[in-house]
Amino acid sequence: SIIILFGPPGSGKGTHAPKIVEEIGAPQLSTGDMLRAAVAAGTEVGTKAKAVMESGGLVSDDIVVGIIKDRIQEDDCAKGFILDGFPRTVDQAKMLDACLAETSEKVARVIALQVPDDVLTERICGRWIHKASGRSYHSKFAPPKSLAGRDPTPETMLDDETGEPLMQRSDDTEEALSQRLQAYHAQTVPILEHYEAIVSVVDANQDVASVWTEIEKVLP
Ligand code: AP5
Ligand code: ZN
Repeated sequence: SIIILFGPPGSGKGTHAPKIVEEIGAPQLSTGDMLRAAVAAGTEVGTKAKAVMESGGLVSDDIVVGIIKDRIQEDDCAKGFILDGFPRTVDQAKMLDACLAETSEKVARVIALQVPDDVLTERICGRWIHKASGRSYHSKFAPPKSLAGRDPTPETMLDDETGEPLMQRSDDTEEALSQRLQAYHAQTVPILEHYEAIVSVVDANQDVASVWTEIEKVLP
């Protein structure tokens, strides 16, 4: 099935997507991860997206829809996929629907993670990621084993599985976050009305295990 994992920055999309992948055996497609990979590789898309992402704005619909269209043609998407961070505007949603309609497919469920804005700042500012795998940690809420009660630094924050250093995202600052939240409320929330009939709202302002229990209940 095709699932949209929806929610503001820091709501837990990246935290829960890998578990849905395990549960339903379809890949996670994160436009944020794909764009960060393009920036790191210095591709044309990456060059266009870099400054917009750092400031917390939205990359143009044409660029992200282009990336998604290419990706969903791949073999591993034949039985469905989990969209993380896409669509993010009503126009992106309409373009996705049109693209899926060509092969008589449609989105099965929108899982909307709800968290109040004031909780998101602490989550975002304490996040550390393992770039190669996309695994996400938090210095307080989801510390790696290596931290062992010490202060979070690049030396103490290491990936549990590989031991490689974790890093912080360049848009995980208070300034960029306020732009990201503004874009979320103005441009992304209206998508919920577009998909009204298939939206399941989940209270994501709980510990990770409780959020996951609720997500599992609404998986198609
Ligand atoms: P993207 O990468 O999608 O970022 P985002 O939407 O801002 O979401 P985040 O990745 O910050 O949050 P998340 O929900 O994944 O949270 P996580 O699980 O990591 O996009 C980045 C940028 O790319 C955009 O700003 C835009 O410029 C561009 N872009 C991407 N897609 C686009 C599109 N479609 N159109 C246009 N532009 C696009 O959790 C966060 C932290 O909290 C972690 O440390 C985690 O451990 C912790 N945590 C998670 N859940 C809990 C919990 N229940 N309790 C305590 N801590 C928790
Ligand atoms: Zn994410």
